[in-house]
Amino acid sequence: MTSLSNKVAFVTGGSRGIGAAIVKRLVADGAAVAFTYVSSAPKADALAAELTQQGGQVLAIRADSADAVALTAAIGQAAAAFGRLDILVNSAGIANGKAMEDHTLTEFRHMMAVHVEAPFVAAQAVLPHMPAGGRIITIGSNLAERVPGANTTLYATSKAALLGLTKGLARDLGPRRITVNLIQPGPTDTDMNPADGPYADWMRNQMAIPEFGRGADVAAFVAWVASEESRFVTGAALTIDGGMSI
Ligand SMILES: NC(=O)c1ccc[n+]([C@@H]2O[C@H](COP(=O)([O-])OP(=O)(O)OC[C@H]3O[C@@H](n4cnc5c(N)ncnc54)[C@H](OP(=O)(O)O)[C@@H]3O)[C@@H](O)[C@H]2O)c1
Repeated sequence: MTSLSNKVAFVTGGSRGIGAAIVKRLVADGAAVAFTYVSSAPKADALAAELTQQGGQVLAIRADSADAVALTAAIGQAAAAFGRLDILVNSAGIANGKAMEDHTLTEFRHMMAVHVEAPFVAAQAVLPHMPAGGRIITIGSNLAERVPGANTTLYATSKAALLGLTKGLARDLGPRRITVNLIQPGPTDTDMNPADGPYADWMRNQMAIPEFGRGADVAAFVAWVASEESRFVTGAALTIDGGMSI
């Protein structure tokens, strides 16, 4: 028995980066995992094949988080394949850093659709399949609470909205013994934010531990929140950023 034996998880944005690390960790902990991607079919298929070969139960589904119909259908497909959904992890995300006057309204709406609308849609869609003991976990950002530099207005706005979504859903779903939590990473080495990127040294200079986190660091936190041990934690914003925000 491992901590997530007999559990079923649905992870958005699991083909790369933090989401892929979460998929690997949840499978290692014994969960069956369905995950989505939008454009990286080869990476998604390779990850699913690798984990299946190791004995995991894994399903990769193409579903654009900005498309509520596609996301809802993917959740239905996962529930049909695995019987129920105990854990929802909203990890799909995009970055679009630029001066605020250069953002189009279309870009604003797209980021809000992926970061805010999708977790709301996914929460509604999983509920019919989620028993007591369920876990809803969203990957936010430390930029929701402290914005240390320019050109992140849109991103920070969308991640800050998740604080309200998390607390509201925690109140709504607590009586059903479903917890809802937000995990807020800081700089984490991925395609979105590489540790050798142009702003990496600037970020490291603001951290108590002056190095980028790894996807596996965030995944370990997710695994604990997904486990039975976290049963009394809900509505929490849990920051994992090497002390950048302190
Ligand atoms: N890296 C950091 O420093 C950092 C810090 C704080 C928070 N975060 C948050 O952590 C999460 C993961 O970020 P990351 O750094 O791992 O990013 P990443 O390496 O760029 O990976 C993004 C993942 O999200 C998927 N995705 C993007 N748009 C999607 C859409 N419309 N529908 C479905 N899937 C979509 C991608 O799928 P495809 O492969 O198909 O494109 C990919 O699997 C995001 O929510 C991000 O905001 C990251």
